[in-house]
Amino acid sequence: MTKQPNLFWHPSAVTAKEREALLKQRGCVLWFTGYSGSGKSTLARALERKMIDAGHLAYVLDGDNVRHGLNAGLTFSDEDRRENLRRVAEVAKLFADCGIVCAVSFISPTRESRRRAREIVGPDRFMEVYIDADLDTCETRDVKGLYARARRGEIPDFTGVSSPYEPPEAPDLHLRTAARDVAACADELLAFVQDRCLR
Ligand SMILES: Nc1ncnc2c1ncn2[C@@H]1O[C@H](COP(=O)(O)OP(=O)(O)OP(=O)(O)O)[C@@H](O)[C@H]1O
Ligand SMILES: [Mg+2]
Repeated sequence: MTKQPNLFWHPSAVTAKEREALLKQRGCVLWFTGYSGSGKSTLARALERKMIDAGHLAYVLDGDNVRHGLNAGLTFSDEDRRENLRRVAEVAKLFADCGIVCAVSFISPTRESRRRAREIVGPDRFMEVYIDADLDTCETRDVKGLYARARRGEIPDFTGVSSPYEPPEAPDLHLRTAARDVAACADELLAFVQDRCLR
């Protein structure tokens, strides 16, 4: 990305700390990664519900939803996937700067893609959440019918079928969704957020 010589950064009159004090929480980005169908959107929504019910502000940035609006013009080429991720990470950073707990639900299959997201958000606010279900389980769930289509060769570069998934090596939180139900995983997620963002 080229730097614009005529642009200047205008500092805010309010600090991130002040916003966090107002909301009584710490702004952070929970970067969910895992196969399609592993449970990223389900758990992100469950967290958002629990947080709001408990009087805390959380917001979900869902990969698919963002492609309906902000990133509607982007394709699934390598370059556009990178741009999709860059924009989502930049938006998540803004949410965190507002003091919001922002859950990003996005397959982000490569370590490099997650490293870039961490770099954009900043390591202090970035937490990698591995939504871990094995490929067989995700394919059996096939919530959107995408695995069936990918197996028929109708979707190029589909993670797990025709494109690799690199699991996180040291995630901040590891949720195993094949072995436990939604409620148990959502409780564990909330406990993690309470510990990291609400104290
Ligand atoms: N412990 C669990 N946690 C989350 N989801 C679970 C769990 N057990 C079963 N499921 C089911 O698995 C499915 C997960 O679908 P979901 O849309 O959340 O996946 P996703 O990771 O967001 O996929 P995509 O990358 O395609 O958006 C849902 O039907 C959900 O009910
Ligand atoms: Mg989803």
